Amino acid sequence: MQAVILVGGEGTRLRPLTSRQPKPVITLVDRPFLVYMLEWLRGHGVRDVILSCGFEPTKVREALGDGTQLGLKLRYVVEPEPRGTAGALKYADEQVGGLDDRFLMLNGDVLTDVDVTAQIAQHEETGAVGTLGLVPVEDPSAYGLVLCNGHKAVTGFLEKPAPSQLDGIDRYYISAGVYVLEHSVLDLIPSGQNVSIERAIWPALVGHGLHGSHAEGAYWMDIGTPERYLQGTFDILEGNVRTGVTELLGASYSAIADDVVADGRVVPPAVVGAGSKIGAGAHVGSLVVLGRGVTIGPGARVERSVVLDGVTVGANAVVSDCIVAPGATIGDGAVLRGGAVIGDDVRIGAGNVLASGIRVFPDTTLPPGAIKF
Ligand code: GDD
Ligand code: MG
Repeated sequence: MQAVILVGGEGTRLRPLTSRQPKPVITLVDRPFLVYMLEWLRGHGVRDVILSCGFEPTKVREALGDGTQLGLKLRYVVEPEPRGTAGALKYADEQVGGLDDRFLMLNGDVLTDVDVTAQIAQHEETGAVGTLGLVPVEDPSAYGLVLCNGHKAVTGFLEKPAPSQLDGIDRYYISAGVYVLEHSVLDLIPSGQNVSIERAIWPALVGHGLHGSHAEGAYWMDIGTPERYLQGTFDILEGNVRTGVTELLGASYSAIADDVVADGRVVPPAVVGAGSKIGAGAHVGSLVVLGRGVTIGPGARVERSVVLDGVTVGANAVVSDCIVAPGATIGDGAVLRGGAVIGDDVRIGAGNVLASGIRVFPDTTLPPGAIKF
């Protein structure tokens, strides 16, 4: 099976995590985000993947190469300018000299274990032109809301529905960004233009062969904000979503590299990367990822957080419910909590207190005791 993954968005809502690394390859637990998608697709028989990029994907290529290591053929298509979700598909079709008669299309920012094999089977049984994977959510306002009849035919598609459009709907199913498509869908997309598949193509296909495949028990998360990135991390660590990390963690729910020097305590679920050091009396966990070469000072406490490669956390500092990007330094006794996101190579001086979702951009230096928030 062939798959086209759209990775053209800029990931602005994830800044400063995406200030230095594009969203598709930011580290999630221990591997670039897209690797989860590629491993999941491979498990459903996909061997040929086309990454549809809105701009030159140098860092994505560096991280993923030609896919050999993942057992896939990976190709890159780069648009002259962002073409929108349907325009990107059209451009990819033209660039590879024609996609297969039937293929998968995916949004490149979802962490999921949706059963694509079942979705493909339904698509074949119904003879649909397109089958959208659907997941239930509480609040559909940030997504594409899909209405179906009893035969799973789509009767309505509302992208980013307004509250007034939700009247009378008792259960919300949204498009998961996982589609099985017949090549004929491409006939509906004009060449060389910016076209949205959600706003132009799905509505045109309502009543003309567009179906929905309800994935009830599946895990699904758009990782596009720091809150959801952290939640996705916790769900991987807890095994709520089936990923390659699940095996690595094993029954103990912890994966600590062999050369880690831990004088403090590590409470699972936790992942601690190679070359990291945990000082005496420090407490790491639960729900913590330490990248490679991380130093946690004596008496420090890190919980429910992601602390990426090369970060230093000072003595008696506290990091709770936060994300710390590679190379940052957190001074002695500093307190980070409440969803703070610390960018690459930031230096937080001793005694600062940062909370409430504050985002500190790369290379910033905060003198000791500058902020108590
Ligand atoms: N190549 C390319 N070119 N990719 C693009 C472009 C483009 O011009 N525009 C967006 N993308 C990629 C993004 O990188 C992302 O992977 C995917 O297309 C969807 O774009 P988002 O910007 O993330 O859309 P969204 O999250 O607001 O809504 C979409 O996803 C929801 C599920 O998460 C829609 O498809 C909704 O219907 C859906 O429910
Ligand atoms: Mg998205």
